[in-house]
Amino acid sequence: MNLVTSSHTAPPNVLQVGPLKPSLADTLRVSYRALELPSTSAERATFLAEHAEGITAAVTSGRTGVDAALISALPRLGAIVHFGVGYDTTDVDAAVARGIAVSNTPDVLTDCVADTAVGLLIDTLRQFSAADRYVRAGRWVSEGNYPLTRQVSGSRVGIVGLGRIGGAIATRLAAFGCDISYHNRRPVADSPFGYLASPVELAAAVDVLVVAAAGGDGTRHLVDADVIAALGPDGYLINVARGSVVDEAALIEALTAGRLAGAGLDVFADEPNVPGALQELDNVVLLPHVASGTVQTRAAMEALTLRNLDSFLTSGELVTPVPMPAAASAAGS
Ligand code: 8YV
Repeated sequence: MNLVTSSHTAPPNVLQVGPLKPSLADTLRVSYRALELPSTSAERATFLAEHAEGITAAVTSGRTGVDAALISALPRLGAIVHFGVGYDTTDVDAAVARGIAVSNTPDVLTDCVADTAVGLLIDTLRQFSAADRYVRAGRWVSEGNYPLTRQVSGSRVGIVGLGRIGGAIATRLAAFGCDISYHNRRPVADSPFGYLASPVELAAAVDVLVVAAAGGDGTRHLVDADVIAALGPDGYLINVARGSVVDEAALIEALTAGRLAGAGLDVFADEPNVPGALQELDNVVLLPHVASGTVQTRAAMEALTLRNLDSFLTSGELVTPVPMPAAASAAGS
């Protein structure tokens, strides 16, 4: 790894915004003399008065991001480097307006997130987590065999957001003999999968809807009450994208009223807070946003984050810049 070490006489120019993987935060502090943005607004004002002028690069994650207020408080900011593929918490329009480059960590996490989506889908339809609870509670002995569940192989799966991750999920499920279709803002050229022009049409045509669209204003509540109604009482919803893409209140209402068969969720509207109503439902599988959370993938994400930072500090260019808003893809990360 090519670590850029700033001169000890120059003021620190790298800012850590929000919590990061501990080894990444250590490298930033030790090798880049990075400063960490305080979390309280009172401390922030004092910190920015002292350091804002020197900061040229911010390193953050999709969980925190860099908002318009912070961008305008950093007059020399030139790059916002994200650990993670999602960057919906960063105000990209404000960054573009200032000529600030933005990077993320695409590709390196695609396999793990797709693996998680498939695992979550199988768990949700086959109820493995619920069946595990059944065994541990002694109910196999007292009540007999676990009820029959829904077959995965051969089911009709709709993917909302056929980007890199959505595509990897589709490829995996095609190997299970699933009939795959998808919705994007635009059809994907040369895709072997069927395109449906709206999320409602897609939901009406499938047994399982998998959400893999990028988060942000453009996809907020793309999966709303109408989409959930179209999926129907025998349908399942899987979300590995962002909680914001699904209307969580509408989802809870449908699940509670038996108007949806089940849901598998790795992401939520207000992480890490998961509504009690979801926790009470046995037909819902809940994961604490772990889709990319393996040792191997997080190490690759860390390395790519540092490559972007190094590249910006040495050449002014990022290795994996995100698309500018005008060219941003409809959905799919
Ligand atoms: C990470 C993610 O957990 O990459 C993303 O967008 O949601 C996850 O892979 C997250 O970014 C880490 O902060």
